[in-house]
Amino acid sequence: MSLKKLTKDVKTIAIVCNQWGDTGKGKFSDYFASEWADVIARGTGGNNAGHTVVVNGKERIFHLLPAGIVYDGAGKINILGNGMVIDLEALVKEIAQLKGDNMTCDNLMISEDAHVIMPYHVKRDLNVNASLKSGGIGSTGRGIGPTYADKIARRGIMIKDLFSEDVLFKKMKKAIDFYQDAPVSISDVIEELKPLAKQIKPHVRDTIKEMHGFLKQGKKVLLEGAQGLLLSIEYGTYPYVTSSDCSINGTAAGVGISAGAVDLTLGVVKFPYMTRVGGGPFPTELGGPDSERYCSEGLAHNLEFELKEYEIPYEEHNGKLVYDHHDKRIFELINCNLSFYKGIGVRLAGYEYGATTGRPRRTGWTDLVALKYAVNINGPNLILTKPDVFTGAREFKLGIEYEGLEEFTRDSQKLYKTKVNYKKFEGFDQNIAGIQQYYKLPDSLRDAIAYMEEFTGGNVRLISTGPEAKNTIVK
Ligand code: IMP
Repeated sequence: MSLKKLTKDVKTIAIVCNQWGDTGKGKFSDYFASEWADVIARGTGGNNAGHTVVVNGKERIFHLLPAGIVYDGAGKINILGNGMVIDLEALVKEIAQLKGDNMTCDNLMISEDAHVIMPYHVKRDLNVNASLKSGGIGSTGRGIGPTYADKIARRGIMIKDLFSEDVLFKKMKKAIDFYQDAPVSISDVIEELKPLAKQIKPHVRDTIKEMHGFLKQGKKVLLEGAQGLLLSIEYGTYPYVTSSDCSINGTAAGVGISAGAVDLTLGVVKFPYMTRVGGGPFPTELGGPDSERYCSEGLAHNLEFELKEYEIPYEEHNGKLVYDHHDKRIFELINCNLSFYKGIGVRLAGYEYGATTGRPRRTGWTDLVALKYAVNINGPNLILTKPDVFTGAREFKLGIEYEGLEEFTRDSQKLYKTKVNYKKFEGFDQNIAGIQQYYKLPDSLRDAIAYMEEFTGGNVRLISTGPEAKNTIVK
């Protein structure tokens, strides 16, 4: 099938993740933003997300702005939706960076209804949730949870509140009085926020109304998901989740429309391995609890540490560590018999280190039991990413059964205890980077994909075979 056929009669596309985030949504958001969409909107989360975009040949990591922002010269409209939580300092920094790269940001709209991540939210998150050691869930430490908590408890600060000092003062007092933590000077916070609020003011709109207008005008709308279904506050492995609903439902609600208004939802799936960052159950994790503990040490076990520890040659270019992802030492790790080390090999081969926090991502085999559950919520259309990472692996596996459980469960304690049974597939040596035709993929990979589709009820539409947009198979 061609891309034209896939998007025939389609006016609204959503790109969401069917796992625990970091599946490579960014590449496809960027692709549909550049090739297809008139409007690009984000509806959930905040600067806990992160995607790399290339601006005028320079790599930039954005945590808030949608991928389409780099095409605003082409008249594309970018929206930060009502369901988001926004750190003003982070947003202003991203806008300034773009302006420095000669982008205008003229077509950026920020919802007046989005909630503001206040400095005290960040402090509270860092005190309570950022570290697994202090009993937290290993959050990104960006204040996401405390901000959504205040939103739900009806003491949140919305973007529109920023423009009246009186309203802001009263609302902040109500929010702060509730908590017993360190004292906050309201007037200091107001002074801190004032210049930031002034900078974003020209972009603030009733984006729900704008969105309804765009749909009526027949504009092509792309919804850019954040995080992943298994991290959703509604459908994820609670309490080890983020604080927004990152399913198609929350993503649509977060831009003011219903999920039913989305013509094509594409759920992104890393295949045949997957990852998780932060705490929480991960039944197919390579190295199990040892890997979770090791990765919770966060930056102590970052990329530089692992490259040195496993003697992988690397160089530093503009602050980035560059190495051969298919180095033979990495594949010795992947092909060894100890799953903990296999997991480290997969992390190095897949470059699985957080774009937001630099933390090592936990790695494991793609879990079809969980994917079947995700397909039931986000729908059958799938995008597979990163199979090219596995060239050189002797074998790979897919999780197909949780012992003692009929199907996926959101119950973290049960997930922690369950033993997974796998289906094994022969590995492949063929370099599949950049391949554009499905039939050219190795037999065992195609067998695994067919098995996965049958098992989950999913329907693979696109397969990524490399970081560039053209490295894509339309199946
Ligand atoms: P929070 O969203 O910062 O509150 O973090 C809650 C959980 O979600 C933690 O386990 C984070 O590691 C995870 N998380 C949040 N954002 C992302 C993301 O963009 N990718 C992967 N994991 C994420």
